[in-house]
Amino acid sequence: MTAEPGRDTGADGQDAHRVAAEALDAVRAAADAAQLEAVRALYLGRGDGRLTVFRRGLGKLADADARRALGQTVNTLTERVSDAIDERRAELEVAARAQQDATEALDLTWPPRPLRRGRLNPVTLAAREIRRIFGQIGYIAVAGPEVEYDRYNFTLVNQPPGHPARDAHDTFYVDDSRLLRTHTSPVQIRSMLVRGAPQRVIVPGKAYRRDYDASHLPMFHQVEGLCIDEGIAVSDLKGTLEFFVRSFFAADARVRWRPHNFPFTEPSLELELACVSCDGSGCTLCKHSGWLELLGCGMVHPAVLRNGGIDPERYSGFAFGMGIERAAMLAYDISDMRLLYENDVRFLRPVS
Ligand code: PHE
Repeated sequence: MTAEPGRDTGADGQDAHRVAAEALDAVRAAADAAQLEAVRALYLGRGDGRLTVFRRGLGKLADADARRALGQTVNTLTERVSDAIDERRAELEVAARAQQDATEALDLTWPPRPLRRGRLNPVTLAAREIRRIFGQIGYIAVAGPEVEYDRYNFTLVNQPPGHPARDAHDTFYVDDSRLLRTHTSPVQIRSMLVRGAPQRVIVPGKAYRRDYDASHLPMFHQVEGLCIDEGIAVSDLKGTLEFFVRSFFAADARVRWRPHNFPFTEPSLELELACVSCDGSGCTLCKHSGWLELLGCGMVHPAVLRNGGIDPERYSGFAFGMGIERAAMLAYDISDMRLLYENDVRFLRPVS
């Protein structure tokens, strides 16, 4: 079949028009991007697209004008279909977005989720406060190892082999010579050996004992205090710790001193605090005694000074040891020590 040159593209041209019309219908009918892509492949696919194949027939046309005319027709139709596809795609995108807006109802004015800030555990708060208070009167904070030699934990603080406090019942032993320190007192010896005299240190840190109930944990915190100088007396011990108690608890907090016994101090005392709940009149917190045990202390035993390389003829000192959990519980009114380690944010929130 030959085309009439310059006027018509002949039967092939008409076929191409028909196919293009079909393609345009299919484009309008495409309901989504996938269908639209299928239509493009069907009509404009490289090689065998229904419209594309008309180019193949071009070579068979002997007449150059007819060839050019059919070529132009196929080009024009291809462009028209291609434009229609682009338009339809834009239309479908708008419709899809409108649909999404309607169903997902994104409300940009909705308030964001609240940011939850981390809070410090009361033990950390108390330790910081203790450090601050002793810092005001010239104490520096130092640390020592938690896995400690038996020698430092016991022997050098006057608890020789056979002493009841060494009982495996209370102590976590690592091996024959090492253990998890049962108190911060071994750091007294370490600090004496390192710093000599005079010195004023506090040692906040972890200690371990085989205990677990509402007022005892297997891991807990203590703060050790050590003051060594010439002429240090029990009055210095009392003045220092009363200053601490008034700074940490309340300006009008009352204390009383009771005799006690520790192997590493002589004399030994215990500081009791007028009950923070009933102020001395008696309640369940103080077991109706009106007083709460807060810390153990005393004048450093001469043998301990000597073990630390300090001459007890020239120097004297006092030391104390306080449970930080206990201090935090009394200051922040916490009834069960285990609460401090359960990591319940509802508990942590009101305290800090
Ligand atoms: N180390 C003692 C204890 O854990 C406390 C203490 C320290 C007592 C220093 C006196 C002097 O119970």
